[in-house]
Amino acid sequence: MQKIKAVITGVAGYVPEEILTNHDMEKLVETSDEWIQSRTGIKQRHIERDPDKATSDLVVGAINKLVEKKSLDVLEIDMIIVATITGDHTFPDTANIVASKIGAKNAFGYDINAACSGFIFSLVTASKFIETGTYKKILVAGADQMSSILDYEDRTTCILFGDGGGVVLLEPNQEPDGGGIHDAVLRGDGEGAAYLHMKAGGSKKPTTVETVMAREHFVYQEGRVVFKAAIRGMSESISTLLEKNNLDIADIDYLIPHQANKRILYGVADYIGFPREKVLINIENYGNTTAGTIPLCLSDFEGTFKKGDKLIITAFGGGFTWGAVLVEWAY
Ligand code: ACO
Repeated sequence: MQKIKAVITGVAGYVPEEILTNHDMEKLVETSDEWIQSRTGIKQRHIERDPDKATSDLVVGAINKLVEKKSLDVLEIDMIIVATITGDHTFPDTANIVASKIGAKNAFGYDINAACSGFIFSLVTASKFIETGTYKKILVAGADQMSSILDYEDRTTCILFGDGGGVVLLEPNQEPDGGGIHDAVLRGDGEGAAYLHMKAGGSKKPTTVETVMAREHFVYQEGRVVFKAAIRGMSESISTLLEKNNLDIADIDYLIPHQANKRILYGVADYIGFPREKVLINIENYGNTTAGTIPLCLSDFEGTFKKGDKLIITAFGGGFTWGAVLVEWAY
C-alpha cells in the first residue's frame, strides 16, 4: 500500500496593521535604530493595539486569507493546532476559540506551547495524523501577540518582538512523488528554562500583587546565552537531519529559519556552510513573532518556491526547544 505523506497545500500570514518602527522604540527605551538594525536586522514590528483583540484574532486573520485563497469549506476541516505562548487565556485552548470563530464545527483542536519551536513541533504532530490516515484536512497555525508579554521598559528584549502569525493547510499527498513533510529532528532541554522564561503567572509562582509590581509577567531572557544556544541547536539539528536522509547542503533549495535575529540566522548558515542567499529572511518587517515567524516567512516567500523544492525549516526557542524539518514543496 502506498505510504501516505502529509503535504502543505496552502499558506497565509497575518499581522495587525499598526507598525512600531525602531524610531518609535527610541521614544520608549534608550536605544537607536542603528543599534537595533546592526544587532538584530529588525527595522519594524507590527503591534495589536485593540484591547479586544488577542492571539486567536491573528490566527483567524490568517485562516480567513487561506480560506479565500483555497476556496476552502471550513466544515471539511478536521483539526486545528495552534502553536502559541500567548494564548487568549491560560485555558481554554486558543485552537477551540479559533474553530468557533471561523465556524469549523467539525474540527477539534488544541494548542502546543513550545515557544519559538511551536510551529515546527505542531507541523510534525499534525503530519502524523495525516500519515496514519486519521484526518484529511488540518490547519496548523503559529501565532503570538508578543506585545501582551513584553516589558516596554526592558530595552534588551522589547525591541526584538512583534505580533503576528500564519497558518498552513496540511492534507494527504495524492501523488506518489508529490512531496510533503519527509522527516524531522525535534529536541528539547529543560535546563534552558533558566535563560528564557516568564517568572510568574504559572503554578510555580501564581500571580499576586507583588509579582505584578515586580514586573514578573514579561519575557525574561539572557540574550547572549540564548544567542549561542540558538546557533548551535539549529545547526546541529539541520546537520543530523541531512545525515539521516543522506542529503548534502547542496541538495537543499532554501533554509527557512525561525526569525530570531539576523545575526543568528547567518550564524547558522555559516556554521553549516549553507549559502547565505538561500536563507529566507523577513525579520526586518516583523521582528520575532515567536511561533508566528515560520508560517509568516513561508507565506511571504510562497511565490519563490517551486514544486519539488527541498526546504529545511528550523527553529530554536524557550524550553529550550529546537529542531529541523525536511519539506518538499508540492505546488
Ligand atoms: N539598545 C541599545 N543598547 C542595548 C540594547 C538596545 N536595545 N540592548 C542592549 N544594549 C546594550 C547592552 O546593555 C550592552 O551594553 P554594555 O556593554 O554597556 O553592558 C550592549 O548593548 C551589548 O549587549 P549584548 O547583550 O552583548 O548585545 P548582543 O550583541 O548580544 O545583542 C541581543 C543582544 C540582541 C538580545 C542578542 O543577544 C540576541 O539576539 N540574543 C538572542 C535572544 C533571542 O533571540 N531571544 C528570542 C527568543 S529565543 C529565539 O528566538 C531564538
